[in-house]
This record gives sequence, C-alpha cells and structure tokens, in this order.
Amino acid sequence: MTTATLPTLSMFSLAGKVALVTGASRGLGLEIARAMAGAGATVLLNGRDPARLEAAAARIGETAGQVIPLPFDVADGAALRDAFAWIRREHGRLDVLVHNVGQRNRKPLADFADDEIRSLLDVDLTAGLVLAREAARLMLPRGEGRLIAVTSIAGQVAKANDAVYTAAKAGLTGMVRALAAEYGPHNITSNAIAPGFFATETNAGITGDPAASAYFEGRTPMRRWGQPPEIAGAAVFLASPAASFVNGHVLVVDGGATILM
Ligand SMILES: NC(=O)c1ccc[n+]([C@@H]2O[C@H](COP(=O)([O-])OP(=O)(O)OC[C@H]3O[C@@H](n4cnc5c(N)ncnc54)[C@H](OP(=O)(O)O)[C@@H]3O)[C@@H](O)[C@H]2O)c1
Repeated sequence: MTTATLPTLSMFSLAGKVALVTGASRGLGLEIARAMAGAGATVLLNGRDPARLEAAAARIGETAGQVIPLPFDVADGAALRDAFAWIRREHGRLDVLVHNVGQRNRKPLADFADDEIRSLLDVDLTAGLVLAREAARLMLPRGEGRLIAVTSIAGQVAKANDAVYTAAKAGLTGMVRALAAEYGPHNITSNAIAPGFFATETNAGITGDPAASAYFEGRTPMRRWGQPPEIAGAAVFLASPAASFVNGHVLVVDGGATILM
C-alpha cells in the first residue's frame, strides 16, 4: 500500500519503528519522545543523566509504544559509538534519529575562550554530524530512515551575543540539506525542525522576567511563547509515512516569528 492510499491516521503511525531522541530528559526532546511513543514507536531516550532519563520515562508512562533510557553524552565519541553498538545489538535497526540536544552560552564573542568555542561546537554541531553518520550506517543497509535535527530559527535569523550557537545551528541546517542530497537516493530523508521561542525549563529565567518575556512575545505574531508539546506534531509528521517525500526541508515552528518585518 502506498502512503497515498493509507487510511489518514495510519499515515502518522510509528508502530514498529525504533527512534532515538537525543536530549529527551526534559523540554522539547521529552515532548517529541512522548509523542513518538504515543504514535507507537520504541523510543530510546537520550540525555547524560540516567536518573533524569528514568524520571522522564516515568513521566511519559504508559503509551502505545515503549520508552527505553539510553544515557550518553553526545559529545563523547566513544560513548556515542558504544550506544550505537548497543542499538545494533538490541534492536538491529534505527528508523528515526531526532537529534535535539543543543546548548547555548549567550555572551559576546570577544568573551569566549578558544576551548569554550570548541566545546560548544562539539555539542551543537559536531555531535549532529557524528550521530547522523552512525544512524545512516544503520539505515543504509535497510534502505530507509528518517534523520531529523532540531535546529533553531537562529539557523536563519540572528541576534547579538549568540554567535557560536547561531553558527552551529546554521551549520546543522546546512548538514540537513547536504544529507538530504546524499541519502535521498537511499530512501533516507533528512529534515530539520526550527523552533522559535518555547517556554522550556531552560528559558525559565526569561519567561519569568516580564520585560524580557514581553520582548520575545512581541517578536512572535501569535503574541505568546510556544508550549513544549507544540513541537511534537512536527516531529511525528517528519518521522511518519505522511512525510515520505519531504526531504531537505526546514519546518519552522515559531508562531510566525521569522516572517515578521
Ligand atoms: N527552547 C527554545 O525556545 C528553543 C528555541 C530554538 C531552538 N531550540 C533547540 O531545541 C532543542 C531543545 O531545547 P530545550 O530548550 O528543550 O533544551 P533543554 O531544556 O536545555 O534540554 C536539553 C536536553 O539535552 C540534554 N543534554 C544536554 N547536553 C547533552 C549532551 N552533551 N549529551 C546528551 N544530552 C544532553 C539535557 O539532559 P542532561 O542535562 O541530563 O544531559 C536535556 O534533556 C535544542 O537543540 C535547542 O537549541 C530550543
């Protein structure tokens, strides 16, 4: 049965799929993992802290699919390779990679030491390439797969005092497009989700400050912050049969922030 003839809701089913979501112990990653498990996937929940991942799995609770903590630091090459060896051994496949980890250090570029720039790029850019490579090695022999990177509207627009993060997100956006070209012939799609301003725990300092919060709300035509569950539909869509011909796309989920003059 082709996608076009599937009953509508089953176009969004992830039943039988194995998905790895990095940075899934809280925030957007947790909501993406929750929704993918709800759509029937076996979701491997990644983060650095095993206890936080167990707590996240408990928060997700009973779903159509399964959630399994898989702790490792995405910037630690050896730990990452061990994790993929485990995926190969235990599951023999990976259908979906959602690379969602992103760290930010807002300050003027002049205040960064060399090693601060390098370690931020290790997490925010290099890890995305290494994860995509490892995922592709599992996907290529099976002739199918979905690579999804959570980038940011900072991959397309810019603000002062954020150069390293912005460079990394723009780099990830380039990677997504390059991999769409490279793996498209192998039926592996590569897409990005670019969130706007979301009220995650990481942004609590801003959302809790009325003046700062008003700035971001004012930059968003919908005049509010995105709530973390509002990212999840985009991820399920890109991972699902409904997106079988969507490749090299950046799906902006920002309440319209990037279209505002
Ligand atoms: N929130 C927004 O408004 C917004 C806007 C645009 C883009 N984004 C992007 O969306 C993504 C998620 O944002 P968020 O606000 O939900 O992030 P967050 O709340 O800071 O969560 C980050 C997650 O990543 C994990 N993590 C951090 N470093 C890691 C590492 N080296 N290895 C493995 N896991 C690591 C954290 O768990 P541990 O600390 O336990 O490892 C946590 O689960 C990021 O890429 C961010 O840049 C967010």
